[in-house]
Amino acid sequence: MEKAIGVFDSGLGGLTAVKELAALMPNENIIYLGDTARVPYGSRSPETLIRFAKEDLSFVLRQNVKAVLVACGTISSVALPILKKECPVFVEGVVGPAARSAAAKTKNGKVAVIATNATINSGAYRKELSSIDNNIEVFEKACPMFVPIVENGYFGRDNAAAKIIVSDYLSEVKRSGADTVILGCTHYPILRPLIADFLGPDVNLVDSGKEAAKVICEKIKADGLCSDSENLGGHTYYVTDEPSGFVNLAELFLDRKIGNEVKKAVLTEENI
Ligand code: DGL
Repeated sequence: MEKAIGVFDSGLGGLTAVKELAALMPNENIIYLGDTARVPYGSRSPETLIRFAKEDLSFVLRQNVKAVLVACGTISSVALPILKKECPVFVEGVVGPAARSAAAKTKNGKVAVIATNATINSGAYRKELSSIDNNIEVFEKACPMFVPIVENGYFGRDNAAAKIIVSDYLSEVKRSGADTVILGCTHYPILRPLIADFLGPDVNLVDSGKEAAKVICEKIKADGLCSDSENLGGHTYYVTDEPSGFVNLAELFLDRKIGNEVKKAVLTEENI
């Protein structure tokens, strides 16, 4: 069987990267892991996140993969260098690709990063942006309620509760004058219509999962690892909690049926 591209996140967020990978490389098999039993990751300590990251990676590596996309801003910010040391195949996170894209897009040199608490506390995006261009002014804002509202399906453009939360978190971002905003948590592009409505058409939104998917795609092509064109590009989704809640929301976001492709994953003996 053709080797797959492995993708993982705490829950639904990494699907923003899967959607892009599937569009760019329709013949590739994709294995997705959503650690739904332990979502959200964004409020956890670095020590816990490193343990989760190693367990997630080792599950994904057991699935015959040729590359791994860490489609989680939190794990990418806190644990990517550790995972790189342990991973026998190419592994990329979302921070570098998103920061490079934002640095290329900004016209006024002001970039805002919105992400989970753990990501903002790590300073990973700030460091990456200043290593690309030291003159970029970086404004950071943690938006911890965004992940639970997404995981509970509050992402419709007209959802009143989601609109209030978006405006509460993003008022300061608007005032910062940033012309480019990195959606530094992969769950956030699911709220993109609401975020775009609030920030207005003059602000560039950088989808971190999408940017990382482009990098994985280029690397697979450069290494001659593309699947052959006869392959139909099968997807398998693993979740660590009951699949039903994930299936409904994932189908809504991906706009296709995935019910038969979702399985329960056991990461460790106790799964915690
Ligand atoms: N989607 C993840 C991220 O990009 C995880 C968020 C969470 O579970 O808190 O940070």
